Amino acid sequence: MFPSEGFIVIGSMQQEVMMKATSREMTRKDLPQVLAISRENMSAIIFSSWGVEYRDEDLLHILLEPTAHNEVLEREGRVVAYFSIDDRNGNLFINSIQVQKACQGRGLGRMMMARIEEHARLRDSPAIELLVQYTNRTAMEFYRRMGYRLICRQGNNYLMRRTLDPNRGPRFVGLSGSDKPLNMQ
Ligand SMILES: CC(C)(COP(=O)(O)OP(=O)(O)OC[C@H]1O[C@@H](n2cnc3c(N)ncnc32)[C@H](O)[C@@H]1OP(=O)(O)O)[C@@H](O)C(=O)NCCC(=O)NCCS
Repeated sequence: MFPSEGFIVIGSMQQEVMMKATSREMTRKDLPQVLAISRENMSAIIFSSWGVEYRDEDLLHILLEPTAHNEVLEREGRVVAYFSIDDRNGNLFINSIQVQKACQGRGLGRMMMARIEEHARLRDSPAIELLVQYTNRTAMEFYRRMGYRLICRQGNNYLMRRTLDPNRGPRFVGLSGSDKPLNMQ
């Protein structure tokens, strides 16, 4: 569970910025809300990156993979955010992470990244990886702030990685010959 709240001081005003939410495993009942969050966030990004329409089926396919682990953040009985993770090439891989538009910028993304890191450590994963569409600059900045570094371009995506155990190093299996290293790690 992730109850959390905090405050920042802007000038003389104290403003609430963190949103309270609880985390739990996703169930099938959550799927309509989860799909709606993703569709609202990603339609324009998918179109600008790939030139195709957003399809609910693609996300459903990811969420229903037997090896996927999916969690939601809930607030007042409504799903406001979710993530989906899996193992890939020995690292933990973030398949999808989304915060409802109206709730973005209030700490929910950071909460989920902390939760994902807990999972990675429990699984003894040396690194956490994800793909982000090359047009999704805001998400790239979010990941950068969370400690992720650009590794290479893969098609219209960038591969980003956060190494958890520098002594073991991440597993580099699976990069194809067309991947372009960015030398920005
Ligand atoms: C990307 C996303 C998951 C971030 O979640 P969030 O709840 O909005 O982010 P948080 O409020 O937890 O912010 C965490 C940190 O990232 C920074 N950040 C978040 N969004 C940012 C943005 N658009 N630009 C710059 N920094 C950003 C915050 O300033 C904060 O940094 P700080 O704690 O050092 O001040 C969320 O905005 C989202 O769902 N976006 C649309 C869907 C998406 O692009 N998902 C990723 C697909 S690859």
